[in-house]
Amino acid sequence: MAMYEKILVPLDGSEPSNHALEHALSIAEKYKSKVTLLAVVPRVVLPVFPDEGFGTAPVTAAKDMARYQDKMKEIYENVLKDAREEVSKEHPGIELETVLKEGRPSATIVETAEEGEIDLIVMGSRGVGGITGWILGSTSRRVVDSCTKPILIVK
Ligand SMILES: Nc1ncnc2c1ncn2[C@@H]1O[C@H](COP(=O)(O)OP(=O)(O)OP(=O)(O)O)[C@@H](O)[C@H]1O
Ligand SMILES: [Mg+2]
Repeated sequence: MAMYEKILVPLDGSEPSNHALEHALSIAEKYKSKVTLLAVVPRVVLPVFPDEGFGTAPVTAAKDMARYQDKMKEIYENVLKDAREEVSKEHPGIELETVLKEGRPSATIVETAEEGEIDLIVMGSRGVGGITGWILGSTSRRVVDSCTKPILIVK
C-alpha cells in the first residue's frame, strides 16, 4: 500500500501555500496520491456592544459584513478554481478534489484531515495574514499543535 494515499493541501492564495501545493504535487506524482485542495472562508464576526445590542449602526454594519463575507467566499472559490486549472494542466494524471468550507481555518483543516483519512497535510508556513515576524502563522501553528496527522510545512 502506498505511503501517502491521500494528501490534503489547505490553500489561502498565499505564496507559501502555492509552494506547498508544488511539493504536494510532486509527492502525489511519486506515490500516485489523491489530492484534496481545501479553502476555508473565515467567518466574520459582527462586533456588537453588549449594552447597545443591535441599533441602526450595527444593522448597517451587518449588511457590510454580509457583503464582505460574500466577497471572501468568491475570493476563496477563485483560489480553488485557479489551483484546479493549474493542476489539471500541469499534472493531468493526479486525482483531484476541491473543497470549500466556512469556519475557523485551523479547526476546519484539522477536522477535514481527521475525518477524511488523510495521510499527509502539506501547507504553507505563513499565509496572506503575515503581519508578525513569526516563522509560523496562527493557522499553521494551530494545525501543528492539534492535528495527529503527519504535516509538511513549506516556506
Ligand atoms: N483560510 C484558509 N484556508 C485554507 N488554508 C489556509 C487558510 N489560512 C491559512 N491556510 C493555510 O495555512 C498556511 C499558513 O497560514 P497562516 O494563516 O498560519 O499564516 P498567516 O496568514 O501569515 O498568519 P495569520 O493568519 O495568523 O495572520 C497557509 O499557507 C495555508 O496553507
Ligand atoms: Mg492566515
